[in-house]
Amino acid sequence: MFQDQVIWITGASSGIGEALAIAFAKQGAKLILSARRKNELERVKSACGLPTDQVLVLPLDLLEQAKMPEKASFALQQFGHIDILINNGGISQRSLAVNTSLDVDRRILEVDYLGTVALTKALLPHFIARQKGKVVVISSLVGKFGTPYRSSYSAAKHALHGFFDSLRAELDEHSIDIQIICPGFIHTEVSKNALTGDGTPLQKMDKATSSGMPPERFAKKAIQAIYRGTPETYIGGKERIGVYVKRFFPAIFRRMIVRAKVR
Ligand SMILES: NC(=O)c1ccc[n+]([C@@H]2O[C@H](COP(=O)([O-])OP(=O)(O)OC[C@H]3O[C@@H](n4cnc5c(N)ncnc54)[C@H](OP(=O)(O)O)[C@@H]3O)[C@@H](O)[C@H]2O)c1
Repeated sequence: MFQDQVIWITGASSGIGEALAIAFAKQGAKLILSARRKNELERVKSACGLPTDQVLVLPLDLLEQAKMPEKASFALQQFGHIDILINNGGISQRSLAVNTSLDVDRRILEVDYLGTVALTKALLPHFIARQKGKVVVISSLVGKFGTPYRSSYSAAKHALHGFFDSLRAELDEHSIDIQIICPGFIHTEVSKNALTGDGTPLQKMDKATSSGMPPERFAKKAIQAIYRGTPETYIGGKERIGVYVKRFFPAIFRRMIVRAKVR
């Protein structure tokens, strides 16, 4: 399905991004792997088992948005073109809004929202010139509804939906697809890395994440959705029901979410 396609994955050093990289490698794709930790990206590169010239490790920090055009030029020099950008890198939150410093609110928005927007904008001229391309965004079910302990994270993910829904409409005439994938609970390091109110990571696997879907299973489902071109996809367990309860029974949803086990 993805033989020889050039696919750029952010957040590729761990969890969902790592599982996506390995799954795309099995399909014979060419990969650009990005995140901050170069050593972890090299580990994922080896795990992909592709010829070394088919995988580029390209470290980047989503906080450093001004560097995105330079990163995009470098990636384009290596492979000549890019078929798919998968915006997956991000950071979660485990703190009540009342206990969360504004610096933490800002950092989550900078990484999850503005970093993603900056990298996408750096590649848009390339996709438009080719009249071809696909941008995938790994949002979250909390991009569809807010839950306790996720105020800024939910806000950042909701912002992604606003931006990328608008972009999808703008790019329709250029044959560029925008696809948003919303994971539920997936068993990754996400809760360990999630920021608490003072900006320190939680460093704990929470119960909901630990009983979540294995990332390999998530990757399999995500790849099918990417292949089909589905504009918006929800992948996870029964927590997906929240999307429909909020849409059709908002009063019930408001009562339900107060008691939700989100940690
Ligand atoms: N797991 C879940 O239950 C779940 C649910 C909904 C949505 N998601 C979303 O799925 C995506 C992947 O998360 P995950 O579950 O795989 O968690 P993870 O294991 O913590 O992976 C997060 C990835 O993002 C990268 N990252 C974090 N901050 C970054 C920064 N400033 N610049 C560049 N890269 C950065 C990390 O790499 P470095 O540390 O090396 O930079 C890592 O590769 C995230 O967008 C998350 O919001 C996950």
